[in-house]
Amino acid sequence: MFRILGISGSARKRSFNSALIRAAIEILPEGLRLENHDVSGFPLFNEDLEAELPMTVKKFKEKIRAVDGVLFATPEYNYSISAVLKNAVEWGNRPDGDNSWEGKPVAIMSASASPRGGARAQLHLRQILVDLDMYPINQPQLLVANADEKFDDNLRLTDQRSRQVLREMLVALAQWGRRLHPIFPDIGDQRAAAGTAILN
Ligand code: FNR
Repeated sequence: MFRILGISGSARKRSFNSALIRAAIEILPEGLRLENHDVSGFPLFNEDLEAELPMTVKKFKEKIRAVDGVLFATPEYNYSISAVLKNAVEWGNRPDGDNSWEGKPVAIMSASASPRGGARAQLHLRQILVDLDMYPINQPQLLVANADEKFDDNLRLTDQRSRQVLREMLVALAQWGRRLHPIFPDIGDQRAAAGTAILN
């Protein structure tokens, strides 16, 4: 089983992005398991809380570590990701030296009533993934534009093309995850230091 943690960046009851995660669960290909994790109730990230992590955050970080891959569904707010998602990202990334996201294969998708489908939020999220040291799949990309036409009144994803791409994306994530770790050549007992070098 390839285990995936699904995370929606919207707290809205009738969220299209949360509905996308539910659609992924509905059409899950064989050999994959996907669990939704609601991150909308987390306290606002604050370094002062790092000494004793809130229980919800502790459990979240354990969950991330336990899965093989992550699936983000991000709304686009002001050309970027939502505060709900950024907050979850920050908790997962901290305290310093305890980055739960590290090395995880990840797929991202977005839904928006706008005709652009959250493209700018996806690009911002990709930038953030660099710092988290996560490994995103590049293709296929899933942007559910004009979302109000792609879901029914019960927020079931009815658009067949979107369903097909979503399924292909889940397969690509699992295949990428399986390739990621064993594929690297053995270079002996050396470790690259994590971090960013700024060379002037
Ligand atoms: C938006 N929305 C939006 N849409 C977009 O295409 N570009 C944008 O920059 C923004 N900015 C934005 C800011 C704020 C504060 C809100 C509330 C909304 C629209 C938004 O993407 C749309 O409502 C999505 O449907 C939200 O995702 P959920 O809640 O349906 O998952």
